[in-house]
Amino acid sequence: MKNRDKILDILTSEKGFVSGEDMSCTLGVSRAAISKNIKQLREEGYQIHAVTNKGYQLEAEPKYMSERQFKHELDAYGFTYVQIDDTVDSTNLEARRRSYEIQGNGCFLASEQVAGRGRRGREWTSPKDQGCYMSLLLHPEIMPANAAMITLIAGVALAETLRELYQVDAWIKWPNDVVVGGKKIAGILTEMNAEVDCVNYLVVGIGLNVGQKAFPEELQNIATYLEEAMDKNVMSFRRFEYVQTLVSKFIPYVEKFNRTHNLAFIKASYEKMCVNIQREVVVEGQSSFTGMGRGITEQGALEVINDQGECITVTSGEASVRGIYGYV
Ligand code: BTN
Repeated sequence: MKNRDKILDILTSEKGFVSGEDMSCTLGVSRAAISKNIKQLREEGYQIHAVTNKGYQLEAEPKYMSERQFKHELDAYGFTYVQIDDTVDSTNLEARRRSYEIQGNGCFLASEQVAGRGRRGREWTSPKDQGCYMSLLLHPEIMPANAAMITLIAGVALAETLRELYQVDAWIKWPNDVVVGGKKIAGILTEMNAEVDCVNYLVVGIGLNVGQKAFPEELQNIATYLEEAMDKNVMSFRRFEYVQTLVSKFIPYVEKFNRTHNLAFIKASYEKMCVNIQREVVVEGQSSFTGMGRGITEQGALEVINDQGECITVTSGEASVRGIYGYV
């Protein structure tokens, strides 16, 4: 950890004044180094009060999270690598290319993707500064067969983040689209590199439409974006704040999952936000049928009651929901 971050830690945990001398002893650096770092923190927007013979006191944090602060926040969640690009082909691809150099968690952000990827080989249009395109590189200790459950966990963290920060009525469409007002606002693409019995790494790619008004023709009536959906009184979208909030929810869930290997701990939250539950759904896959969504299993499959009253467990495929994505 850099001295600047250590000083920030001390000032944040200490409510009153901390003397420059105490900090220089604790950190084993000169008084001059302390004042140089304090100056730097002030330049980043931290309001630090200095009183002779008393020391320094943190009065206010910057209004907006700086890149440095963002990296510091992510550090607490095991992110040893953060990469922020203007343009990439795809943040998922970038994370996969870098995966071999990174031991801890990695976070990849880009303002624009020129080859953004969606699920099932679809494209994810990613115009510059109109969405948040990010990929999280993780090394979970799980079996490959359990990897898909991490995507459902990401869906919960994402919907919770949108509700909390922007007061939008965000829901999850099984398995992991996030929808607002019956239209898709975000999507998740999880990719993995694995051997038969262990996952080497996972890349969880999350795309959020923020200001994007123009969508490809096939999405025009089924996609929405944050600026349209959010309460106009809520402060505008700030990428670092959004990613940090999402990570602060997602990583503790992943850690829980690493211990339990099932979704029991999050099942109730998922079901509460899942648009497929208690709604008519049309399942399209190996066998197609209509039924009523009942819940999810602890392995993340969708339970649907068919017209004969039997409970069918759907593990993959599409499950359209009446009233969602224009399905009537
Ligand atoms: C879906 O089809 O719903 C999944 C879309 C996932 C898009 C995100 S944007 C960031 C990351 N990079 C990609 O190329 N795709 C994912």
